[in-house]
Amino acid sequence: VKRITTHILQKMKNDGEKISMLTAYDYSMARIFDDAGMDILLVGDSAANVMAGYETTLPITLDHMIYHAASVVRGIRRSFVVVDLPFGTYQGNSKEALASTVRIMKETSAHGVKIEGGEEILESVKRIISAGVPVMGHLGLTPQSINKFGTYSVRATEEAEAQKLLKDARLLEEAGCFAIVLEKIPALLAKQVAESIHIPVIGIGAGKYVDGQVLVMHDMLGINKDFKPRFLRRYLNLYDEIYKASQQYIHDVKAKDFPNDNEQY
Ligand code: KIV
Ligand code: NA
Repeated sequence: VKRITTHILQKMKNDGEKISMLTAYDYSMARIFDDAGMDILLVGDSAANVMAGYETTLPITLDHMIYHAASVVRGIRRSFVVVDLPFGTYQGNSKEALASTVRIMKETSAHGVKIEGGEEILESVKRIISAGVPVMGHLGLTPQSINKFGTYSVRATEEAEAQKLLKDARLLEEAGCFAIVLEKIPALLAKQVAESIHIPVIGIGAGKYVDGQVLVMHDMLGINKDFKPRFLRRYLNLYDEIYKASQQYIHDVKAKDFPNDNEQY
């Protein structure tokens, strides 16, 4: 199998082939997504929410992210694996950003990192790229800044924030990022970004005019029962499936139906 590289991802944008990206946090799911042909697997710090049950992404540590990322990498043969640098491991100190990245690359064998922000973190982006590590940017609704935003609603609906986002996207491209994620912004603004820079722009809640799409696996598979934002398309209702299977199993054990004669030694 031919491994996905940043060059292949760039070629996809140039050729107008959309890029598929999904989060993964463990070996078994990564293996399925990789077999299915996912271009990029993101070991997102959304692990804080969907794996660990935290309210925000802020509490997850570099050690936690490394555990998840190493598990994902052991499950893949083809997908490009990107790991989120968690809150507090890169902002305001580019040397720390590089040190965090070096730990991720050495201890997980992932292929690149993602970091949230534009102009404010540019020095960190440049230092990481100068070490030969591909960096994916992340603009718009950046969840590590939730305490600044105060809400998870759509970003950059006002001209000033939209202009800053456009400028940040250009700065990230100039700094050498191989791609940028845009989260929860108006579709026409995302279109403008995707047309004004040359690197792939991957959207979540950013509409159809971008170069690829990313979703959180638990949302896409319907494991999170009550999370139904407008931008989400659910491909399964796994909560209901797993709930039903669990109840059936409980029933079969209580009713002495499981195990039967063929299910024992
Ligand atoms: O952590 C995450 O899952 C992400 C995606 C939503 C882009 O950053
Ligand atoms: Na993230």
